[in-house]
Amino acid sequence: MTIMPVNKKLLVTLGLLSVVVFGAMTNIKPQDEGFKNLKVLPKNISGENLHKVMEDWSHSLGVHCNFCHARNEETKKMDWVSDAKPEKQMARDMFKMTSKINQKYFHAKKDSLGMIMQSGVNCNTCHRGTAHPEAVVPDGKGPGGPGMGPGPGGQPGPPPGGPAPGSPAPTKP
Ligand code: HEC
Ligand code: HEC
Repeated sequence: MTIMPVNKKLLVTLGLLSVVVFGAMTNIKPQDEGFKNLKVLPKNISGENLHKVMEDWSHSLGVHCNFCHARNEETKKMDWVSDAKPEKQMARDMFKMTSKINQKYFHAKKDSLGMIMQSGVNCNTCHRGTAHPEAVVPDGKGPGGPGMGPGPGGQPGPPPGGPAPGSPAPTKP
């Protein structure tokens, strides 16, 4: 019979193939970055995605990582796992609030990681680059509507056409 060697070859090929496939599958596993203290983000989030979220929060609040994360003074290194800073817990609450708003009022779907998509509001909707979005009651006199908001301290924003005389252009610290 000449069919045997063909089948053998096929078997060997399949055998090798499954080794390759199995190898690839086991390679996926170690990509679990093993973050230790995730309470609101998906526990299996990739390092890349976690970093995107962290960058996003930092930019929205206009802060660096150490606004929320404590440094270990002994090792002189950032202790990402630590919950020593209250700002970190506040950020978790803010994340929950934001997800809830998006889910309940914007009917946002979950993304592939199981996170509610930030399709209605996100951190930047309120924060706009500052850690302390002030609750300012509009005085009705300023030129801007929402978004053209008042400068620091609640003064009206610059009139259209240039900054008010004597007032420095609002800059981020
Ligand atoms: C606004 C606050 C805030 C800022 C700014 C921030 N983080 Fe985070 N970070 C958090 C919170 C909250 C968690 C925990 C999330 C959770 O509980 O699911 C976290 C978790 C992490 C973790 C996972 C730690 C672990 O193993 O549990 C890493 C790593 C991390 N952040 C890095 C960074 C880096 C790098 C930056 C700067 C680019 C940064 N973070 C900026 C709030 C912040
Ligand atoms: C609906 C508006 C809104 C949204 C959305 C929002 N925040 Fe906030 N956030 C506030 C307000 C208002 C404060 C209180 C500011 C203050 O007390 O000065 C605040 C305070 C904070 C603080 C505490 C700042 C401090 O100095 O202690 C952190 C941290 C924070 N927000 C992170 C976030 C993150 C991260 C997101 C997105 C996941 C987010 N916020 C989304 C309105 C919002």
